[in-house]
Amino acid sequence: MSNVEDNQKIGTIVGGALSSGLEVRLDSDYSVENLYVGDGITIEGREKRYFGIISDMMLQSSDSSIRSLPPNSSDFFVTSILSGTSAFTILKISLQLAVSLDTNIDEFDKLSLDNISFGPATTLPPHFSPVYRATSKDYTEIFGSEDENHGWIGTPKGRDAEVKINLDLEQLIKRSNGVFGKTGTGKTFLTRVLLSEIIKKDLGVNLIFDMHRDYSDSVNDESGKKINSLKQIFPSKVEVMSLGKSLNKGQVRPDAEIMVSYNDLEVQDIEILSETLNLTSAGLLAAHALDRTYGDKWLGLFLNMEPSEDKENPNSLSAAAERTGQLYTVLHTLWRRLEILKKFEFLQQNPAEESIKRIFTSLERGKHVILDFGTHQSNETAYILVTSLITRRIYERWAEQDNQLVIAIEEAHKFLNSEVASQTIFGTIAREMRKWKVTLLVVDQRPSGIDAEVLSQLGTKFIHQLEDNRDIDSILAGSSRDLRSVVSTLAPKQQALVIGHSLPMPVVIDVRSNDTLANFINPDKTPNEITNIERDNDDLFGEKK
Ligand SMILES: Nc1ncnc2c1ncn2[C@@H]1O[C@H](COP(=O)(O)OP(=O)(O)OP(=O)(O)O)[C@@H](O)[C@H]1O
Ligand SMILES: [Mg+2]
Repeated sequence: MSNVEDNQKIGTIVGGALSSGLEVRLDSDYSVENLYVGDGITIEGREKRYFGIISDMMLQSSDSSIRSLPPNSSDFFVTSILSGTSAFTILKISLQLAVSLDTNIDEFDKLSLDNISFGPATTLPPHFSPVYRATSKDYTEIFGSEDENHGWIGTPKGRDAEVKINLDLEQLIKRSNGVFGKTGTGKTFLTRVLLSEIIKKDLGVNLIFDMHRDYSDSVNDESGKKINSLKQIFPSKVEVMSLGKSLNKGQVRPDAEIMVSYNDLEVQDIEILSETLNLTSAGLLAAHALDRTYGDKWLGLFLNMEPSEDKENPNSLSAAAERTGQLYTVLHTLWRRLEILKKFEFLQQNPAEESIKRIFTSLERGKHVILDFGTHQSNETAYILVTSLITRRIYERWAEQDNQLVIAIEEAHKFLNSEVASQTIFGTIAREMRKWKVTLLVVDQRPSGIDAEVLSQLGTKFIHQLEDNRDIDSILAGSSRDLRSVVSTLAPKQQALVIGHSLPMPVVIDVRSNDTLANFINPDKTPNEITNIERDNDDLFGEKK
């Protein structure tokens, strides 16, 4: 790792354009091996100071004979002479921000950040302006220090661990955001960092649909080390609710078991399952007809019907076909395909407690809720059904609330692919900017599987390594082309390009390790003990009081 505090000049502006990027000739005494695509740099112009990122690096030569007759690489004397003259390195810089030098950057320590007026770089630094590698002071200047709104998420790529990138989380959660990357790149681990910072700083409430039990209980990282769950870190702030009967294993016991009433299910909740359950459009029209005829209770009644053609039997599908004006065969196919729902013990005709109200009340009281899919973990039908049903109900009731609600969903393409995004509640939330105090935190492996309009509405995107060009194209649509090479040089894990409205310029981060989140708190401890450990955690991890 290189020291960021050295304010050493690394090169000189020699050409380029605002649109395609600036060209910097690297000083011959600065090793190209110290630099990365995605590294932050600063440029001292005459009137302004500029900030940018390295988008590419090229080894060039001004003498064509070097290509045809390269010197012997063991001849140190000749190679070092050529390296200073006709063989050199060009850095491509994507210019991002500019600040007027009148602000007296040297006096930065004495100034409050508000006094420094960054703007997008719309002018060019002149020829031969000196270029430096961004220092930790530069990063703090741009991204802010940790405070009641700014949360620590990582370190600039390849830099010393003490250089922290702090995001304005209050800004972040005002819009829907996305975490992307192929499998195993660290999406869930980064999401845990984001959620824990939002929880720690009390900036909003989170509702987390935990399909794979990633957030409710501790997990092992790849080296086998135990990573604490959000419930273990913040026992008094987080409630875990199990969908249906709790699994009764692991270290965390759920605070409640959630049952869902058939009456809460609407046709649109069934519509979103059409691909998973292979429902036809005729079947969906029939579902609407059943809803019109039988009202709220339609699904419970329908699933209890007998699949018989006996019209005399009032509870037969045949009688229902006649009442609703649908074909028997269509109703029969729909019945067969929806029959799987009967296996879900969490779906009940008259559950003892209104579960959605239970979740709502906890969120309203400022508690963060993790819905653990328990025995239904990784069951796609249960996940899609329950997630969309609960989100719709909570969203409808959240209008009066002051607190910002963040709904975290993994495998977001199931709700936001272009076929369903216009009909689902998630599509509505993602597109409806700022109108409601509800935003999404979507996590997905394949951004190309998500509706383009929804992607374009995401405020901030955390992009881990992606291999498929379609994924890279869709996630970077509308962003500068330079960022493509930045994405293509990301490490296979724990590293992400962060772009969007909650940060002044794109940055590549080594994501903060989940080890640093906080002390383990055993939820079985008494409330007093928990408060004491939480206080220690705050002291240890620098929470502002
Ligand atoms: N910030 C981090 N701190 C510590 N370890 C990490 C971090 N990010 C990633 N890792 C390591 O990488 C592994 C994979 O991370 P993670 O489970 O978050 O991947 P993912 O992108 O969610 O994968 P999938 O798409 O399969 O769910 C973790 O088990 C852990 O070992
Ligand atoms: Mg994951």
